Amino acid sequence: MCGIVGYIGHREAYPIILKGLKRLEYRGYDSAGIALFDGTDIKLSKTKGKVDDLQDKIEREMPTNGNLGIGHTRWATHGVPNDVNSHPHYSNSGDLVIIHNGIIENYESLKKELIKRGYTFKSDTDTEVLVNLIEDVKKNENTKLGKAVQIALNQVVGAYAIAVFDKHKPNEIVVARLGSPLAIGIGEDEFFIASDASPFIEYTKNAIYLEDEEMAVVRRNKGVKVRKIKDDSLVDPYVQELQLNLEQIEKGGYEHFMLKEIYEQPSAILDTFRGRMRPNEGIIKMAGIEDNMKTFLNANRIIVVACGTSWHAGLVSEYIFEDLARIPVEVEYASEFRYRNPVITDKDVVIAISQSGETADTLAAIKLAKSRGAFVFGVCNVVGSSIARETDAGAYTHAGPEIGVASTKAFTTQITVLTLIALRLARAKGTISSSEFRHHMIELELIPEKVKRALESDAYVKTIADIYKNASNFLYLGRGYNFPVALEGALKLKEISYIHAEGYPAAEMKHGPIALIDENMPIVVIATKKGHYEKVVSNIQEIKSRKGKIIGIVTEGDEQVRALADHVIEVPETIESLTPLLTTIPLQLLSYHIALMLGKNVDQPRNLAKAVTVE
Ligand code: F6R
Repeated sequence: MCGIVGYIGHREAYPIILKGLKRLEYRGYDSAGIALFDGTDIKLSKTKGKVDDLQDKIEREMPTNGNLGIGHTRWATHGVPNDVNSHPHYSNSGDLVIIHNGIIENYESLKKELIKRGYTFKSDTDTEVLVNLIEDVKKNENTKLGKAVQIALNQVVGAYAIAVFDKHKPNEIVVARLGSPLAIGIGEDEFFIASDASPFIEYTKNAIYLEDEEMAVVRRNKGVKVRKIKDDSLVDPYVQELQLNLEQIEKGGYEHFMLKEIYEQPSAILDTFRGRMRPNEGIIKMAGIEDNMKTFLNANRIIVVACGTSWHAGLVSEYIFEDLARIPVEVEYASEFRYRNPVITDKDVVIAISQSGETADTLAAIKLAKSRGAFVFGVCNVVGSSIARETDAGAYTHAGPEIGVASTKAFTTQITVLTLIALRLARAKGTISSSEFRHHMIELELIPEKVKRALESDAYVKTIADIYKNASNFLYLGRGYNFPVALEGALKLKEISYIHAEGYPAAEMKHGPIALIDENMPIVVIATKKGHYEKVVSNIQEIKSRKGKIIGIVTEGDEQVRALADHVIEVPETIESLTPLLTTIPLQLLSYHIALMLGKNVDQPRNLAKAVTVE
């Protein structure tokens, strides 16, 4: 999972590629590199570290002229992150240069064959094998680069988005995709290549998203020719008009993308339900649901597949679907589901949840479910993403670009979409009355304002962060709808502050985790008035008698928990099913402030990447 960028046209390629890599750093940031064609030769620089380190290096050691180039920001798979394993990679002759996002699974056998034929390798990467395979085909078959790429890719098992060029043909870049995203921006006599549209959004609004098993030859002044890799047939590509704008992907005055995205939640949630819900008329309308209503109503069960934070949103939806629509739900880690021969029939509806729409395990789970006849519905944020295209129907979250690696607004907007779906199905099934239906919608409509109020706790959350920032462990407890929120709170803290944290159903504590509690253990307990309040208060008593430090997330005006807890953070009152949209907010802020105080890189935590396109 890496970011790739390319440019061919009339402008200087370097600044476009550099800026593009900075925007794609969320996809991986352990090393980076750029190759430019300066009119006579390839100039290449790469380094371990961030794109900023690359910029320093390039500006010290390399001329940056040229209007063709490719660049890469890496998340290591094959080979440790170091200068040599960074992309781009040359072929042995030095004629070809390639960038690659993905994994070539059969690279070892291909490498052995190439070594027998006299090829040598500098790096440990699968990518260097691929560029030499292309070179080998090109020589042996005496063919053009495009054809050589096609023949080589037909020998490859794995996933890729690649861009490659030949210094003897500096008027074209060949690109291809299978399993990893690749977009081509179409400008006036210029073309942009990138893992998503953010690197070229200020230059053009027109883009082609390559489909799996497609490749394209992108020619200066001539245009883009798309073909199927397998059978060489020509494809008439769909040129999509992009909705994204530049302000949406920049920090907008916030210190970090994560903070900006936390604060965007009121408007993101509003955007998610806007136009889909009309409480006064008692209507929820979502095309993907209306068009497939029969399938949903006849389903034996819903299986949710997702990973990470999206899986937590799926877990919240289990409560909503079962509670409101009385449809049995199973929530599966996509990575487990895809490998355990699950029982799936054509009576199952699978809901795949993914912010990026590119998560490899979720994609594989979708393919498996489809192959067994299930109807698959996607809940994605990134428009035109692989999951959005692979699913039978779907609903976008409309959260806008999420750049911070730790997911925040994606989570709350996923819950919002899933709530709308559950409500719509519940009404269609008659499992809730029309007045309950309206009541839920009215409460949902109030959520953006209530999220704004929940955000007002920021300064106080910061004080709490300061008190507990040096703790080695945290426990997060919740029950019912707020059990998944406890899991999500713990995940947020782990991933950006590197403090060990666990989420648990509050009542499970006595079956083990209670042994961890002493005066050094901060315990975040979600104890809102709606939903098992008295039971959670008893759990808090149990913690208190073991001297644990209690941070309660409570409903405004709460007295009982306040009397017991060391700190309480208030959120506005709402109906039980919507409490996760509010209780999540202070947990996001808590992890943000702790990570910041510990000097961690909040937007780009170590070892992680925004889109996990490897399994
Ligand atoms: C955590 C986080 C990850 C993602 C997971 C799935 O903050 O961001 O756990 O939720 O990698 O990603 P998507 O939703 O893009 O499929």
